[in-house]
Amino acid sequence: MSFESILVEQRGAVTLITLNRPASLNALNSGVLEELITAFAAFEADPTQRCAVLTGAGEKAFAAGADIKEMADKPAAAFYADDFFARWTSHLVKTTRKPWIAAVNGFALGGGCELAMMADFIIASENARFGQPEIKLGVAPGMGGSQRLTRAVGKAKAMEMCLTGRMMDAAEAERSGLVARVVPLASLVEEAVKTAAEIAAMPPLAAIANKEMVNAAFETGLDQGILIERRIFQVLTATEDKAEGMAAFIEKRAGVWKGK
Ligand code: HXC
Repeated sequence: MSFESILVEQRGAVTLITLNRPASLNALNSGVLEELITAFAAFEADPTQRCAVLTGAGEKAFAAGADIKEMADKPAAAFYADDFFARWTSHLVKTTRKPWIAAVNGFALGGGCELAMMADFIIASENARFGQPEIKLGVAPGMGGSQRLTRAVGKAKAMEMCLTGRMMDAAEAERSGLVARVVPLASLVEEAVKTAAEIAAMPPLAAIANKEMVNAAFETGLDQGILIERRIFQVLTATEDKAEGMAAFIEKRAGVWKGK
């Protein structure tokens, strides 16, 4: 598979996808959108791949937002007719059941911040900056930012960031629960791939199930979320990997997973 605006490589069971338009700070144009959908679909379909990492090329940006130059002359009817960004969200968030991590290496602004928040979690470099500056362009988040940022950091910070366009640095993002961990830029991809490899070595059905339940906490009420958790737990008890995992513990050996 060859791409123009992204790079895709497999490192063992981990797929590393890199946004590769560094001259425009990895701005997200429709070419990137289509290529990411294709790359994530290939990752999801490949049984040898168990976790993915998404990062940006260069040291300055993960993605500085949707491509303003592409959006500037696009008529409103076209935004509405294309349902701009809807397919992206549905592929990366809903269709991709396997876990993936955003490794944020610098600016994650507007659509870039929203893309990072579609990941199951974010690992950030020390120079990372998060923001929803769309208001300064006369618009607003359009890929879930107003919803996911608010759920991640709470109303006060999300509202302030959306209304002023203020950026949050990596330390504040970690303090606020937006990112799981902050690491030096030089070791960001290595750390993210290492974490992804750890996830990739887990029983695959349990990985999908754990992701599904934590996401339910984001998307449903407490009673419904707890019911989803309990039902998924009960389904997992029927898997061969559950029998193997518990036997391996009792026999003091490592489990060997089948994904069944
Ligand atoms: C297109 C972009 C871009 C973007 C940067 N570039 N961001 N091109 N779309 N979102 C380009 C610049 O035009 C420039 O190209 C090159 O990348 C380097 O950027 P500079 O501005 O020269 O770098 P710097 O001065 O260091 O400033 C970095 C920055 C700034 C603070 C990140 O680039 C910036 O504010 N970018 C826009 C951030 C933004 O508003 N994002 C939200 C987009 S709207 P040239 O050719 O001049 O060298 C959005 C909406 C989503 O995401 C939902 C809509 C439905």
